[in-house]
Amino acid sequence: MATLNKYSKTTSGSIFDETLFARIADDLYSNGYSIQPAALPEEVSGALHAHLEEINASKYVEAGIGRGDDFLKNEFVRTDEICWITGSSTAGQKWLDWTAELQRFLNQRLFLGLFSFESHFAHYAPGAYYKRHSDAFIGEANRVLSVVTYLNPAWGHEDGGELVLYKDDKDREGIKVVPLYGTLVIFLSEEFPHEVLPAQRDRHSVAGWFRVNTSINNKIDPPL
Ligand code: OGA
Ligand code: MN
Repeated sequence: MATLNKYSKTTSGSIFDETLFARIADDLYSNGYSIQPAALPEEVSGALHAHLEEINASKYVEAGIGRGDDFLKNEFVRTDEICWITGSSTAGQKWLDWTAELQRFLNQRLFLGLFSFESHFAHYAPGAYYKRHSDAFIGEANRVLSVVTYLNPAWGHEDGGELVLYKDDKDREGIKVVPLYGTLVIFLSEEFPHEVLPAQRDRHSVAGWFRVNTSINNKIDPPL
C-alpha cells in the first residue's frame, strides 16, 4: 500500500517524517513497543555518529544504576560507559529537537503526558554488557518510555551486542535487535525487561527516557 509521507522540520532544521511517528504510535498502542530499522533521519544519525569522534574517552563515565544518591556502580549488572547529552553540541541538539517532536506527536496521539527527556551516549567496549534490567525504578516510576538508537554502520548478527527485549518478567526468549546504524527501538519502560549482550566490536548507542511529571509539594520532579 502506498503511504503518503508527511515531512516537517525540527527547530534545528532536521527533516522528520510524521508517518514514522504514526507507525511508532500504532505499535506502542497495540504492542507496547516498536522496532524501526533505518528510522532516525540521516541528518540526526550522521551528526551523532560524527560527534562520537569528538567525545574523547575522558567525557565518558562508568555507567551506574539509579539516580542521585541512589547511584550505584555495579559491574555485575553493566560494564558500559556513558556520556549524558545536554544539547551543548549541535549533534546533541539535533537529537533533542527530534525527540521533542516525537514527544509532541505521541502526547497528541496517545495522551501519554510525556513531560521531559533525558538521554546519553553509551559505549560498550568488546565484551561489555548490560544484564537484564528494567528502566523504571520502584519508587521512581516516572520513566515511562524508553528510546534507543544505534550508531554502528555495517553491524551483523556475528558482531553480537544485540538488545534483547523481553515481553514480560516470565519471557526468557525475547526479541533480539541488531544494533545497526539508524535502527530505533521504543518501548514502555515499565513493561519490558531487556538486556544488552556482549559484542565483538565497540558498540555505540544513544539511550533516552521520556518521563512524566511526578511532582510532590510543588517541587517539580524531574527538574525542567
Ligand atoms: C540502557 C539500555 C540498550 C542498548 O541504557 O538502559 O538498556 O541497546 N540500553 O544500548
Ligand atoms: Mn535499559
